[in-house]
Amino acid sequence: MAVTLGNGRARWRRALARETPCGPALGIVSSRALAFALALVCGVFAGVAQGAAADDAQAGVLYATECASCHGAKGRGNALVDGPVLAGLRASYIERQLEGFRTGFRGANDKDPEGMEMRAAAVALDAAAGAALAAWLETLPAPLPEAVAEGDAALGAQLYAPCAVCHGERAEGMPALAAPALANQAPWYNDRQLRRFIVGVRGAHASDAWGTSMRASSMGVALDDVRHIVAWLSEQGRGAAAIP
Ligand code: HEC
Ligand code: HEC
Repeated sequence: MAVTLGNGRARWRRALARETPCGPALGIVSSRALAFALALVCGVFAGVAQGAAADDAQAGVLYATECASCHGAKGRGNALVDGPVLAGLRASYIERQLEGFRTGFRGANDKDPEGMEMRAAAVALDAAAGAALAAWLETLPAPLPEAVAEGDAALGAQLYAPCAVCHGERAEGMPALAAPALANQAPWYNDRQLRRFIVGVRGAHASDAWGTSMRASSMGVALDDVRHIVAWLSEQGRGAAAIP
């Protein structure tokens, strides 16, 4: 909103009425000083609101052009190209992963072809664009995961017990410990990531402090038990305790 004082009362009033939500109020305030104070406050708030909306719109466009092909139009993942769910993940987690892909503490291991693919998409993304995308993705509703046929969810619940200290009782995530939500993630992706931690393809890089802590926690899990945990996680995502 560009309002130049001294251009005549009627003109800047008209401009404010058009460009801020305070237009009607300005029409009934007769004192110029009062109108100016009101306009200033309204202008500031309108500017903030417009700024946030503009950031969201930009992030949405960036997402559609740079990310949607692999992560789905609404961030709900695309199994055909190994792209996980991003909708509803916490912004802080997304930002850190993007930083990891960009700087190479994630997706730089040749035993991790999917991570390398994602790394190629992240190298040109600067931190500010990553932050805007992350903030926008956090606001999208997370999908309900598919049911997992091959795992025993009851056994998975027991195996998951030690994980709850970081990922939460219902796998809803714990931002203070940098642990992401798992309940609404695609089961095939949870399966692959847990295996990658166990065998040391993820979380083994010296600069990946959080990944290293997760790797240490994964090492007691047998590869054959991963499917049970994944089945339980998917039940949480679809159950009454599903994350809204
Ligand atoms: C060419 C396909 C492709 C494109 C384009 C792509 N990604 Fe990815 N992305 C992937 C794959 C595959 C993975 C899974 C990597 C793995 O298995 O470790 C991934 C993983 C991620 C993760 C980690 C999720 C998690 O739960 O840890 C984030 C965050 C992410 N992508 C964000 C983005 C953003 C933002 C964009 C757009 C700037 C983008 N991706 C573009 C393929 C892609
Ligand atoms: C000490 C805390 C801690 C414990 C205990 C823990 N995790 Fe994690 N987990 C993390 C953190 C932190 C991350 C994120 C790592 C990163 O930033 O790359 C993570 C990431 C993950 C991911 C990848 C999610 C994604 O979107 O890519 C999976 C899957 C996972 N954990 C499953 C488990 C399971 C199953 C257990 C129990 C066997 C477990 N975790 C125990 C802290 C923990």
